[in-house]
Amino acid sequence: GHVYRQGALGRRPAVPTDDAALERAARRAMSARAWAYVAGGAGQGRTMARNRQAFDAWGVLPRMAHGHAVRDLSLDLLGHRLAAPVLLAPVGAAGLVHRDADLAVARAAAATGTTYVLSNQASSPMEDVVAELGGSPHWFQLYWSKDEGLVDSLIGRAEATGAQALVVTLDTTVLGWRPQDLDLGSLPFSRGIGIAQYTSDDRFAEIVRDRVAAAARDGREAVEVTLGAVRTLLDIARNHPGAFRDNLRTPEPRASVETFLDVYSNPGLSWDHLATLRSRTSLPVVLKGILHPDDARRALDLGADALVVSNHGGRQVDNAVASLDALVRVRDAVGPEPTLLLDSGVRTGADVFVARALGADAVLLGRSPIYGLAVAGQRGWRRCWATSSPSST
Ligand code: FNR
Repeated sequence: GHVYRQGALGRRPAVPTDDAALERAARRAMSARAWAYVAGGAGQGRTMARNRQAFDAWGVLPRMAHGHAVRDLSLDLLGHRLAAPVLLAPVGAAGLVHRDADLAVARAAAATGTTYVLSNQASSPMEDVVAELGGSPHWFQLYWSKDEGLVDSLIGRAEATGAQALVVTLDTTVLGWRPQDLDLGSLPFSRGIGIAQYTSDDRFAEIVRDRVAAAARDGREAVEVTLGAVRTLLDIARNHPGAFRDNLRTPEPRASVETFLDVYSNPGLSWDHLATLRSRTSLPVVLKGILHPDDARRALDLGADALVVSNHGGRQVDNAVASLDALVRVRDAVGPEPTLLLDSGVRTGADVFVARALGADAVLLGRSPIYGLAVAGQRGWRRCWATSSPSST
């Protein structure tokens, strides 16, 4: 509505309303590094391409004279009322894109009342992001750590911040092979971007301390230096949450980054781990990254409250099936009852419509709001959301 009114007054929107134009503007606004990380996909990018082709393959057949003067897109999802079937996907390392990163997204999410799924790989600790949300709803996304104590610690913190659901992402137990990133020779984490949930975590601090102490017992060199750097880092993280991201760009806190790389995920993650989830949290559990109908059934048998059918925006496995195609099969396998969300390739309101028609209760947006963030910060994010949300048409 707002974009239309502005257009009628001859005003251009701050952010292009066409998604291809938005992408081009975002590319111009981002560093080569940030663009490679955000826009990049696994391998030859075939999964990413297929995500879009799957949407193109379906046509909307509009019905007329339906008699609804006021459109109502609200729905109940996991016991809460949402204004529209669209959530903000967890996006890690957004600090590459914008200084305020998750904090800016949180302010925009709050202004629009959109549920924000906080990333385990956020650029600010979840407590700081939730403070910016001012009561607007959020979920927390977890990567299952090799360290079970860290799993519990992150779940406990998410509960303490009032998260409405716990999303466990299953498809990233190892990082995808992403040529654009690899050819630039640095992942964001190498500069400490995207590890704020860890550097603000007491259990993580314990793990780092144990490792440094073990290294000291082994007589490895430079231990004292590392230890000092870690202490400084943790102090900064605790006392100046806003400032530590920049401090992390220095090479000294290597121990934190290396520990992070070692423990952030568990390549051995199995259904046995997931079977313990139900007793570890009272929050609704959402499993993200499901594509196969058998995995969907199994997840629901274990007591998952909802699934996100997703191929991680094509960032993990090259030449994987489109997430939308998987949705059709998963919905068919699980029947009409279970709550299913979809992401990967959603760019427009029409896409949301198609996803809903094919069995999704709601969708998550990954890259497109981040492009808005790159182009115009918090304002851009809101505009982007406005153009991709069916509620604004
Ligand atoms: C992601 N995604 C993601 N998922 C997750 O569970 N935890 C995370 O930390 C991240 N980080 C992340 C960073 C970036 C830069 C992108 C683009 C994506 C995946 C995300 O939640 C979602 O599944 C996809 O982005 C959806 O696809 P589209 O909308 O980007 O096509």
